[in-house]
Amino acid sequence: MKCVDDFRLRLGKHELVPIMIGGMGVDISTVDLALEAARLGGVGHISDAMVPTVSDRRYDTKFVKNKLKQYKYNVANTDKSDVKFDLGHIEEATRLHVRKAMDAKQGDGLVFINCMEKLTMNAPRETLKIRLKAALDAGIDGITLAAGLHLGSFGLIEDHPRFRDAKFGIIVSSLRALQLFLRKNARTNRLPDYIVVEGPLAGGHLGFGLDDWMDYDLATINAEVIAYLKAEHLEIPVIPAGGIFTGSEATGFLEAGAAAVQVATRFTVSKECGLPDPVKQEYFKAEEKDIEVNGISPTGYPMRMLKNSPGIGSGIRPNCEAYGYILDSNGKCAYVEAYNREVAAHPDAKKIKVYDKTCLCTHMRNFDIWTCGHYTYKLKDTSVRDADGHYQLLSAEHIFKDYQFSKEGRIALPD
Ligand SMILES: Cc1cc2nc3c(=O)[nH]c(=O)nc-3n(C[C@H](O)[C@H](O)[C@H](O)COP(=O)(O)O)c2cc1C
Repeated sequence: MKCVDDFRLRLGKHELVPIMIGGMGVDISTVDLALEAARLGGVGHISDAMVPTVSDRRYDTKFVKNKLKQYKYNVANTDKSDVKFDLGHIEEATRLHVRKAMDAKQGDGLVFINCMEKLTMNAPRETLKIRLKAALDAGIDGITLAAGLHLGSFGLIEDHPRFRDAKFGIIVSSLRALQLFLRKNARTNRLPDYIVVEGPLAGGHLGFGLDDWMDYDLATINAEVIAYLKAEHLEIPVIPAGGIFTGSEATGFLEAGAAAVQVATRFTVSKECGLPDPVKQEYFKAEEKDIEVNGISPTGYPMRMLKNSPGIGSGIRPNCEAYGYILDSNGKCAYVEAYNREVAAHPDAKKIKVYDKTCLCTHMRNFDIWTCGHYTYKLKDTSVRDADGHYQLLSAEHIFKDYQFSKEGRIALPD
């Protein structure tokens, strides 16, 4: 019987353990977590979501404070279109974050950055371009283009000196999305180096409808993508993601032709994960009934999360002047609109509630939206409970090696 370690992921000259830890914003997949994956010979992700606030927290910069100061006059304004990012600051924050990871990297693995197109920042093209460029400048091994179809993203960096040497991957949730990407991108004469096929059981935002995600399954989409690439004679590694909980399940995908697997949920309870420890306990404790896919993300994508996330229903004043990552190219955000509507409907209320949307920037930044994969309710089976009722946090190495070596559906418990 085989295990994941019997396979290798080939990316250019690299031969890797075929385990990729997926990007988890905002700083849930930390530099430390990504470094562990790389040290163990796999691929780890950092995320560039809200990197100025991550930089402030970790590297003692003042990006958010300064931006808020600049736009303070607009805080009470219902119109947020004035709020713009300073591209130089985005560049600096991204470089700091990426350098921190790359300078510390050990082992044969790689560190990639997860870059979500849906973070439109009131200037989608300009801000995305600088994010990609800065990550490449700072030496990132690769970029995974996520959350959005990224039809023009390769074009934004085709003149970068590392455009052909860094690894670029895309995340798709259907064969159709992949075909569209390949067609639109043909002009750059550069194929993706890997394709992550993300099914409906993943954490974070989903590439499926709110009402139909349950009609799809990862194995089927993965097989369709692999068959299509074969028919087109395209040799691009395919990496399924979403709901792969054990080493045996991962091995099953590798035997079915996948080049690696991308996993995330099991690492949310690792010591290296950026979630605060009490939140990690919430993930451990969750039952299946405590997890939902809802429509409160202002990006318009469905998102999976724990139902007791403090950010659900919260009616805080939008913090676009400080953050503003979800503002579209017209300076609009669905949360700002929902908030303004509730304020207008309850003019005398001291505190309002907004149920249909959430201020995603603020709540992700503060770890108050507890996004998670479908199988979060199985995390309690991956650890042991101390006498005080707390579950033991796991090392990323323990989880990684469990994926790498386990057989017969077994999950290794900590010593
Ligand atoms: C807490 C959490 C946050 C996530 N955030 C992101 C993100 O910021 N960008 C992204 O592309 N995917 C995100 N994902 C998806 C993962 O990268 C990964 O593809 C998926 O969750 C793998 O499935 P699994 O969690 O069942 O192992 C997130 C997943 C989790 C669990």
